[in-house]
Parts: sequence; C-alpha cells; structure tokens
Amino acid sequence: MSKTETAPAQELGFSFKQGVNWSEYLDYRPVYPPSFFERIYTYHAAKPSSSWSVAHDIGAGCGVVSSSLSARFPNVIVSDPNDGYVSLARRLLVEQSTAPGETNFQFLQEGGEKSSVASESVDVITACECIQWMDTAVAIREMRRELKVGGTLALTHYTVPRIVGNGRAQGAWKAIWGVYSKRADGPLLDHAIPIINAALESLEFLPSQWADVKRVHINAQGSFDSYRIDERLAESRSAAWEEQVWIEGDEDWADEQGIQWLKGYLATWVPVVPESDIQGLWDELEAALGGQKVRIESPLTMVFATKKS
Ligand SMILES: C[S@@+](CC[C@H](N)C(=O)[O-])C[C@H]1O[C@@H](n2cnc3c(N)ncnc32)[C@H](O)[C@@H]1O
Repeated sequence: MSKTETAPAQELGFSFKQGVNWSEYLDYRPVYPPSFFERIYTYHAAKPSSSWSVAHDIGAGCGVVSSSLSARFPNVIVSDPNDGYVSLARRLLVEQSTAPGETNFQFLQEGGEKSSVASESVDVITACECIQWMDTAVAIREMRRELKVGGTLALTHYTVPRIVGNGRAQGAWKAIWGVYSKRADGPLLDHAIPIINAALESLEFLPSQWADVKRVHINAQGSFDSYRIDERLAESRSAAWEEQVWIEGDEDWADEQGIQWLKGYLATWVPVVPESDIQGLWDELEAALGGQKVRIESPLTMVFATKKS
C-alpha cells in the first residue's frame, strides 16, 4: 500500500514522554562506524571546491553524530527540539568530555523545519535517524536555506536488523516487531513509519535546487522490502536522474548479538513495548537462540544531495 506522506503530528517525535532512555540508546543502538562518516566526507570532498568549516547535526539527540563530526569540523552546530536533549548533548560533548576540545560547539533547541542558523552558512548538514519525525518537505527546504552553495546534505536511517542463519529466531523476531508495529499507531507514528519503511525514498529533491542526489542502500539485499517493518509505505519521490547505489555485505553494519541485546534494542524504539507484554515471544526467541549469539545485519540508507545556487 502506497500513500502520500501525511503531515507530521503536532507532538514531537522521540520524546522522553514516549519512553526515550538515552543510556539504553547508547548501549543498544548500533555504533556509527568510521566508514559511515567516510562516506559523508568522500561525497563532500568530491565537489570542485568543498569547504570544511561548519557542520550542523540536526535531530542530534544526545550528540553521537555531532561528536564524530567534531573530528573534521572546527564548528559543529548541535540542534534538537525536544526538551533537555541539547543540554544532555552539551554535558556529554563539552562538560564531561575528555577530548582535546578544539571544536566550537553551538547548541540550539529547535527542530529541523525552522532553524535560527544563518542562511548559506553551513558546509555539511547531517540528520540521522530523525527525518521521519519532521515535515520532510519543509525541513529539506530549511536545510537548503542553511547550506552554502555546494554544501552537502546527508540524511540517514538504519532500521531494524534481521537475524541471519537462524530461521526460527528470525520468525520470532519478526513476530515481536509485528507487535511493535500494531502499537506504533496514531498521527505521529503514522507519519514516521511510512517514511522509514520507504527507505527515505519519499524525500523529494527538485533538480532546480539540488544536484548529485545519491541514495546509498547498505545491507538491504538489493530490495526496498528489507527496510519494511510493516505495510505502511510513503509514496516514492525519487527521480530517474538520481543515483541509486546498493552495497551488500558491509560488516560495519553487521554484528553478533544475543537475547539481552535484542531485548535492549527493541526498548530503544518508541513506543516502548514492555518485555512482560510479549514474554511468550521472547521465550520463543530465546529457545531458538539456544543460549548462543546470532548474526544480525542492519539495512542502512544514506541520502546525499548538493545544494545548487
Ligand atoms: C532516534 S533520535 C536520533 C539521534 C541521533 N541523530 C542519532 O542518529 O543517534 C531522533 C531525534 O529526532 C529528534 N526530532 C524529533 N522531531 C524532530 C524535528 N521536528 N526536527 C529535528 N529533530 C527532531 C528527536 O528529538 C530525537 O533526538
């Protein structure tokens, strides 16, 4: 089922109220590997004259991506609209940081759709695991305003990993996500889930405004189906002039994990499904794993675009 993207809900996505726990997030979400940033930098460096002064990490949460950006940019803007998130990012990136501290961080509590960042002032914008919470057309327009001509936009999303090599375990894991999917309803999730199910293909880039749009699909087994957690699907707005790249077998987005990690990972998604509500499914998964770790592979999409004048 394909549908036109809905307007986002009034409520902000991924808030404390919805059960977000940043400590669990840091423990159980995949760590962004160096190759993730190298893909962004390689894209940006390919421009005839790329500058490397200011990066803006939008929807930064507690600042995991901002932290890595600070290794390449002397100025990093860290923004997020939810109460308390940029204060937490400031604590982790500045106050409690043991890094040399040469980067000038700026922290802004604001959403991707309306920013106080000056026009044409940013070299690279990242928005990771968050574009689905935004009014995407409005946010992409605002990001374009902030970018310098020739600047890079990088929108990324990794999704639920699949269990490989153990069909019974993957069956139980899928059933668990089936329960999540039924709980993930209402205006906020009905806006966000179709966008991630569509692997960000619903994001539109007008050829008059953007150049060199490149959509990279990692560990997706050559199919958009790999990204779907249910049947809700935003309509694709990718265009024939854009480049589509499929990369399989990326070990940086694969791992070996056991039952505790799988439980921890589910708990990092909102709405949170309490373990006790699906005890039978967890028991089935645990039995299928037989006390062993299992291989998991995460599909990841990275969408790159360059601002035209
Ligand atoms: C899953 S976290 C991603 C954090 C970080 N970027 C990462 O990759 O780990 C999603 C973030 O999106 C933020 N968010 C929600 N609505 C947003 C909006 N309209 N504009 C920008 N960020 C938003 C949330 O506050 C949350 O910090």
